Amino acid sequence: MRTARSPFTDPAQVQDALYVTPDRIGRRTSALHRARVSGRHAAEVIADLAVEASGTATGVIADVGCGRGTSTAVLAARLPQARIIAIDLSSALVATAKSRLPDGSRAGAARADFHHLPFRDEACNLAVAAFCLYHSTTPQRVIAEMARCLAPGGTAILAVKSASSYRELDELIAASGLDSAAPGRPSLYEAAHTGNIEDLAVSSLGACTVTHDTHVFTFPGLAEAAEYLATSPKYVLPPGLAEDHVALAGALRQRLPDQPVTTTSVVTYLTGHLKAAR
Ligand SMILES: C[S@@+](CC[C@H](N)C(=O)[O-])C[C@H]1O[C@@H](n2cnc3c(N)ncnc32)[C@H](O)[C@@H]1O
Repeated sequence: MRTARSPFTDPAQVQDALYVTPDRIGRRTSALHRARVSGRHAAEVIADLAVEASGTATGVIADVGCGRGTSTAVLAARLPQARIIAIDLSSALVATAKSRLPDGSRAGAARADFHHLPFRDEACNLAVAAFCLYHSTTPQRVIAEMARCLAPGGTAILAVKSASSYRELDELIAASGLDSAAPGRPSLYEAAHTGNIEDLAVSSLGACTVTHDTHVFTFPGLAEAAEYLATSPKYVLPPGLAEDHVALAGALRQRLPDQPVTTTSVVTYLTGHLKAAR
């Protein structure tokens, strides 16, 4: 089944505005990181799950949709014997991911589409897809492609967010009058999220283990909230405000009391093990 188009599943937006340079994702991640008051760092959780998975310490690990390579770098530090190959559609992010690898690491990064991974059948012992499956209208095909690349007994780790992530920010934008339709728009995470990830994975991976971690973010004021909001393609803002967090903060301050803003997101981790060969 295909998912309706949203900014996160629109190839033109994914390949241009969102990830053509590392800047926008860097600003988005950094604004969230500074505001996080509870919830574990996702790359650390993924590395813990990878270390727990048997037989991955010296094998090949694919980090699919690696972005700036945050999880790649943590995996490379925690599993130095493994050969990690990070994959992303954005050449700029592949270069960024490479530049953030630990010195002397055996890891590498390459540009590829996660619907057609550049691995032979059964070449990998572990495949990770963190916060990227929601960019495909057919995420179950990406999971099937990961399963194709896994050796018998191999492990897949998928990380997604709840469809309702950051909805308090939609309400804030609506209350300001800058985009009153925001809360009614489909979630950016509609294609792959906490509520459907098990169904998407089961036909390729079989029985899976799922855990959830609620992340709470408190932005000290509207200026800090605007740093995140200006990176979201969900909002339809007046000209001049969409990409400019300083102008957006000014517009919000004219309309709302400047006080701390809290929002939440459930991060879900799914681990699936392919059956071992008999
Ligand atoms: C939010 S970032 C994920 C970052 C990273 N995995 C992490 O945990 O920090 C989503 C990434 O998915 C990548 N992506 C989107 N569509 C893709 C595709 N068809 N094939 C490969 N990567 C894709 C984007 O270029 C972007 O770098």
